[in-house]
Amino acid sequence: MDKMTVRGGKRLKGEVAASGAKNSALKLLFASLLAEGEHVFHNVPELKDVESAMALLESLGCACRREGKTLRIHVKAPKTYEAHYDLVRKMRASILCLGPLLAKYGQAQVSLPGGCAIGTRPIDLHLAAFRAMGADIQLREGYVHAEAGRLKGASILFEFATVGGTENAMMGATLAEGVTTIENAAKEPEIVDLANYLNKMGARITGAGSSIIRVEGVERLRPAEHTVIPDRIETGTLMIAGAITGGEVTVTRCVPLDVDALILKMRESGFKVEHGKDSVTVWGEKGWKGVDVTTAPHPAFPTDLQAQFMALMTVAEGTSVVTETVFENRFMHVTELLRLGADITPKARVAVVRGRPDGLQGAPVMATDLRASASLVLAGLIAKGETTISRIYHLDRGYERMEEKLKGLGADIGRV
Ligand code: EPZ
Repeated sequence: MDKMTVRGGKRLKGEVAASGAKNSALKLLFASLLAEGEHVFHNVPELKDVESAMALLESLGCACRREGKTLRIHVKAPKTYEAHYDLVRKMRASILCLGPLLAKYGQAQVSLPGGCAIGTRPIDLHLAAFRAMGADIQLREGYVHAEAGRLKGASILFEFATVGGTENAMMGATLAEGVTTIENAAKEPEIVDLANYLNKMGARITGAGSSIIRVEGVERLRPAEHTVIPDRIETGTLMIAGAITGGEVTVTRCVPLDVDALILKMRESGFKVEHGKDSVTVWGEKGWKGVDVTTAPHPAFPTDLQAQFMALMTVAEGTSVVTETVFENRFMHVTELLRLGADITPKARVAVVRGRPDGLQGAPVMATDLRASASLVLAGLIAKGETTISRIYHLDRGYERMEEKLKGLGADIGRV
């Protein structure tokens, strides 16, 4: 099994381009199920999770063809309406095929995803939305069995601004009879990207990116062509990579506005951050200070950058309080950061990080999930000596060619 080795202490410098957003690409791929024919996606990152989404689409009878960053999906009437456990357990986002299958074909059997390293992650809000739209939903033998005639427009009010729930409901509503309103909708940029694509297919969605989304159902949708937005979490991770080494890094082909919450926190901590229309540059000398951060749905500080920001805080001057409000178990990286010499006290959803500007030393550590692996790579960039990160396959699920990108900026990093 692959391990990554980082020898810390190199100042990163230069330009690096962001890839297409994983969390947008996956939903766009599933949305293609809403219309038979050929869909074309550009800027699709080459990631394990995208391969898993393609495998699921192929198991349903679609034909996927990749040419570099372009992905062509030929959607045909499914051979089966089942998303098998073996595919869903590899990638929870597979639950996002439920809305499209149910809306287009009136049925779907999707394996329940189960818990994962960062929390129990139920899908009750997704199911409540489909029930409100008139679907009959049963849970049997580990599967969601969903059936409906044509879905009916409904008023949905989410208890929590769930990203996946908003996306699933929005996709389902595109072909429903009548109007659906989704209140307390999630406002992430990936939701706007999905709505833009669905509208290209002929859907009538307004309000995506705000907390109230309105979808006027249509009779049918058509295939479309779309370019995936840049990955804001990868952008933020690369910005922190520059910052933690006291270097100067420009991330190009990104959307600076999508990392606004991170930019504000980095400036508060003492870094200089400047941005153009589609690039952002971070630089700073040693001596940044500890700042508090609380994760929450967009546009607040993203939970998907919490682990990476914590790595930055382990070598700040002073104390930082990191509060995780989105997931109940997203501090798995803490015990591994402790192995590198960090001084952190986690208590439930709050971690107190006492910065040690020269304190990290390389050690063998283990990745537990995608963003935790990224935080260990970042910590490795500043730790003295060698850090070996095992279970690095977590990183490959969501970061395209991470070590090549970091090497290009001057990092001493490789795989064993
Ligand atoms: C998406 O997950 C992302 N995944 C996550 O990225 C991201 O961390 C998360 O949104 C929050 O931004 C993809 O886009 C594929 P949620 P999702 O529904 O949709 C609870 C990464 O590292 N909840 O907004 O699953 C849930 O348990 C990943 O790239 C319910 O209780 O997130 C969690 O505590 C990890 N019932 C909270 O809401 C539900 O029915 C937020 O979940 C649905 C969610």
